[in-house]
Amino acid sequence: MTLQEEIERRRTFAIISHPDAGKTTLTEKLLLFGGAIHVAGAVKSNKIKKTATSDWMEIEKQRGISVATSVMGFEYRDYKINILDTPGHQDFAEDTFRTLTAVDSVIIVIDAAKGVEMQTRRLMEVCRMRKTPVMVFINKMDREGKDPFDLLDEVENELGIHVRPLSWPINMGYHFKGVYNIYQDKLNLYTPDKQRISETIAVDLNSQELDQMVGEHDAEKLRMDLDLISGVYNPFDVNEYLAGDLAPVFFGSALNTFGVNELLDCFVEIAPSPRPVQAVERVVNPLEEKFSGFVFKIHANMDPNHRSCIAFVKVCSGKFERNVYYKHVRHGKTMRFSSPTAFMAQKKETVDEAFAGDIVGLPDTGNFKIGDTLTSGEDLHFKGLPSFSPEMFKYIENADPMKQKQLEKGIHQLMDEGVAQLFVNQHTGRKIIGTVGQLQFEVIQYRLLHEYGAQCRWEPISLYKACWIESDNQTELELFKKRKAQYMAYDKEGRDVFLADSSYVLQMAQSDFKHIRFHFTSEF
Ligand code: G4P
Repeated sequence: MTLQEEIERRRTFAIISHPDAGKTTLTEKLLLFGGAIHVAGAVKSNKIKKTATSDWMEIEKQRGISVATSVMGFEYRDYKINILDTPGHQDFAEDTFRTLTAVDSVIIVIDAAKGVEMQTRRLMEVCRMRKTPVMVFINKMDREGKDPFDLLDEVENELGIHVRPLSWPINMGYHFKGVYNIYQDKLNLYTPDKQRISETIAVDLNSQELDQMVGEHDAEKLRMDLDLISGVYNPFDVNEYLAGDLAPVFFGSALNTFGVNELLDCFVEIAPSPRPVQAVERVVNPLEEKFSGFVFKIHANMDPNHRSCIAFVKVCSGKFERNVYYKHVRHGKTMRFSSPTAFMAQKKETVDEAFAGDIVGLPDTGNFKIGDTLTSGEDLHFKGLPSFSPEMFKYIENADPMKQKQLEKGIHQLMDEGVAQLFVNQHTGRKIIGTVGQLQFEVIQYRLLHEYGAQCRWEPISLYKACWIESDNQTELELFKKRKAQYMAYDKEGRDVFLADSSYVLQMAQSDFKHIRFHFTSEF
């Protein structure tokens, strides 16, 4: 196969959902279709159960599972599919945001009874920002849920994207009879089965046959629904989907392996192969011969005695090869990797090569941080890995004076891994850790102790938001920094950050300093 053919047959995507909508179940069923696993129940949910916030074994287990399921690659028809897993717990939202920078498209799972939920809304904002093509799978049709037309309206309004149903349910819950595949004009009759893949049948919508199969009443209702759909929605335009403006919608029941093949078959045909990536210097085309890639995730070893990590690199262009020297752009030095891993199904294995769209895992002993670029020699810096303002802040203090060095090292490595964000107060030099949720503080404290032998203590600080500031008016910027000296901090790249202690203070600052721009993300 040529380089171009290899790259164009790749589909790298993430499944996102609010917890419990069925992401794990759908992932598993996709693997089942790809022949990557043979029995349902093989993929473990990476959820931390709500009750387990201080159950350390649970967190450790979760880290173990999530490295195994971080990336799941498999072959389906002529395509190479890479599913990138995202953490289920909302306290790890930053991790999910970063994973979304490494995918070329997204499938959103929605629970038919619950509709669009909070976390889906937030993740969709990131997709919209990046113009990521999105498909929607409305799950749990085997249970009573909301009316399908209402669900479509809800998705359109709440997620801010146009929708176009490409499959349509015949009833739901107890009376669920199947889905009509609008994309292929085929009928798929429902038989609940957790393991088996159901057969689809080509059927003429206006034939008696349909009446016999689903009953006269439901056949008539289906015809009317489909008429309404073609009246209300424009014909499906794949370019609108690829531009991130239109989401095709499928209905089904992941648990019953139903409606999933409609989704997958359409997905491989229309989902984008690796897309061009914007670097600071230029746009990088995936089909370029020369390799380039960036680190979007770092995963520490579960075993505290081996403090090695795996850096996950998304190959952006060309081909990555084992034992070839590549440039680590931030360090300006070359490195080669003798045991890069790829992820097939749930197994990690050493690979000789990987193509644009693939993810390779590189063993790392502290050389990488999130956002680092590897290339065949060119100085490229990929954009699109911003830090977002944390929601919670605490001072981190040393609780064991003998272990100051270990603590410093631990904090820096954990921050490079992207576990949380570090801010250093410019006035006092005190360190502040910012997180999305409480669980991250607990993870940091636990890992500092178990991996670095350091003990930390948290002290409260009341802050509202971290704002990255910039201005074309240097005098005003200096004045602001002087006036707000106590609230000025450096982020880990040494950029100026204003730590506002309330929304009122922030509003006042914005109105008093009109030439300063306040950003809630580090990339603007
Ligand atoms: P998540 O990864 O999005 O958090 O969701 P997950 O797949 O773990 O699914 C959440 C729950 O919803 C699971 O039940 C799962 O079995 C159920 N589920 C998924 N798809 C369907 C479906 O199509 N129909 C129905 N009726 N249920 C579905 P659980 O009881 O929480 O877990 P388990 O004990 O079954 O594993």
